[in-house]
Amino acid sequence: MNPENKTYRLPPGYTALQSLFRSFRFLKDPIKFVSRSMNRFSGTYSVATLKKYTLILTQDPAFINYVLKENHTNYPKSEITADRAARYFGKGFLFSNGEDWLTHRRLVQPGFHREIIAGLYEIIIGTINRSLADFPTGEKIDVYPLVYQTAFNIVINSLFTIRLAPETMSELSRTFSEVQDFYIGEVNKPLQRFFYPINHADRIMLRKSAKMRDIIKGILKERQSGKESFNDLLDILLKARYEDTGLPIPEERLIDQIMILIFAGHETVANTLSWLLYLLAPETKVMERLRASMETMNITDSVKDEYFTAVINEGMRLYPAAWMTDRVALKDDQFGEYSFPKGTVILSFFYGLHRNKDYWNDESAFHPERFLSENAKEKKTKSFFPFGAGPRLCIGNNFAMAEMSFFLYAFLKEFEISPTGLVPEMKPLITLRPGKVILNVKRRSC
Ligand code: HEM
Repeated sequence: MNPENKTYRLPPGYTALQSLFRSFRFLKDPIKFVSRSMNRFSGTYSVATLKKYTLILTQDPAFINYVLKENHTNYPKSEITADRAARYFGKGFLFSNGEDWLTHRRLVQPGFHREIIAGLYEIIIGTINRSLADFPTGEKIDVYPLVYQTAFNIVINSLFTIRLAPETMSELSRTFSEVQDFYIGEVNKPLQRFFYPINHADRIMLRKSAKMRDIIKGILKERQSGKESFNDLLDILLKARYEDTGLPIPEERLIDQIMILIFAGHETVANTLSWLLYLLAPETKVMERLRASMETMNITDSVKDEYFTAVINEGMRLYPAAWMTDRVALKDDQFGEYSFPKGTVILSFFYGLHRNKDYWNDESAFHPERFLSENAKEKKTKSFFPFGAGPRLCIGNNFAMAEMSFFLYAFLKEFEISPTGLVPEMKPLITLRPGKVILNVKRRSC
C-alpha cells in the first residue's frame, strides 16, 4: 500500500529487508546475482528499497521494448547515477532528459550521419594502423590496454579531426580514465563520500575534470582561430544554432557534449573489441572465414560485410557493453499483469536477455552464423539490444560498427591470436569491462 492508498500489482521479488541482506551478494557479483534472481522469478522481479522508490528488473524483451520505445515519454533516464556523473563529466545529453536532451541530441545528430562518418574512415583507419604498429606480441599478452588506447585515440582524432600532440593525448586519456574510475568507485561504494571532507578526493577529481575541460577549450580555440573548414562533428557543433534563439551552443555546454561523446564513445568500443578478441581466439574457423572474405574486399567494405557484422553482433550479444540501463516512471503505469507507481525505477537487464535460452538457441555458445540472414528464424531483432532502443538509441552506433569492423579487419590481417585458457574477469561497472584479456599474439608475417 502506498501513501495514496493505491494498490499495485508489482512483480514478485524481494522486500526491503531481503534486499538489504542480499546487497552484499549483489555488490560482489551483480551479474551472477541478477541472473539467478531472473531465473527464480521468471525474468522480471521487483526490489523494494529503503528509499521511496521500488526497482523492477526485467529481461523480458516486450517489457524492455515498452519502456524504451513504445511508452518512452513516460520513462526518462533515472537520476541514480546521472547527477554524480554530471559533476565530473558535465551535463551532456547522455545524462539529461526532456527539452534539454532533445535540443542537444538534435544538434549533435547531424554529426553522426552516414556521409559524415564515411568522411572519417581515413582518420579511423589511420589511427588503428598507428596503434597496431605498437601492438605487443608474444605469449600471454594483455590486449585490453592497447585496444582501450586505440578506441580512445579514434574518438579524439575523429571528433576533432586533428592529431593532438602525443603528450596532450596521453594527458587527456590518462585523466579521463582516472576520473572515470573514480566516478565508478563512487557509484559502487557510495560510503566513500563520507570521507571527502577529510581526504578531499572529490575535489582532486573535480580539478582533474577541470583540466580536461581546459584541454578541450584549447582545441576549440585553435579550431575557431583557423580558417580551414572540416566536415566533422566538431565543425557541426560549432556551426549549430538553437532553433528558438538562433544562438550558438555556449562554450561550456559545447564542452559538456564533447565530454559525453568521449565518455560514451571509447570504453564501450574498447570493451566490445576486447571481449571479441577473447571470443575469437579459440575460433580458428571463424577467423578463417573472416580472412577469406578479406581477400575479396578492402578494409572499408568490412562495415558492409554480413559476416563481419554477424561476428561483432555475436560478441555484443554475449558481452553487451551496456549490460543494464535504467529508466524511471513519471506516472503510474502498467505492463501486462503488473502495475506500479510513479517513481518506480525500471532496469533493463540486456546481459540476461542476450543469454536467455527462450530467445537464443545454444545461448552461451559463440555462434556468429545465428546473425546471418539465412538463419533469420531466431527472434534476434526483438531480443537484441546492444545499442538500446527508441529515441535514446545509441547515437554512435554506425560510427561504432565502422570502427569495430575496421579494427577487426586490420587486426586479423596483421596478427594471429590463440587462447591461453585464462578467462577475463567480468567487471560490470557503468559498462561491462573485462579485466585482463590475456591472449597469445603473433605477427602474421613472422
Ligand atoms: C560498441 C560500442 C557502443 C555500444 C555497445 C553503445 C551502447 C549504447 C547504449 C545501449 C545506449 C543507450 C543507453 C540507454 O538507453 O540508457 C547508448 C547511448 C549513447 N551512446 Fe553509445 N554505444 C557504443 C558506442 C558509442 C560511440 C562510439 C559513441 C559516440 C562517439 C556513443 C555515444 C552515445 C551517446 C551520446 C548516447 C546517449 C544517447 C541519448 O541519450 O540520446 N556510443 N550507447
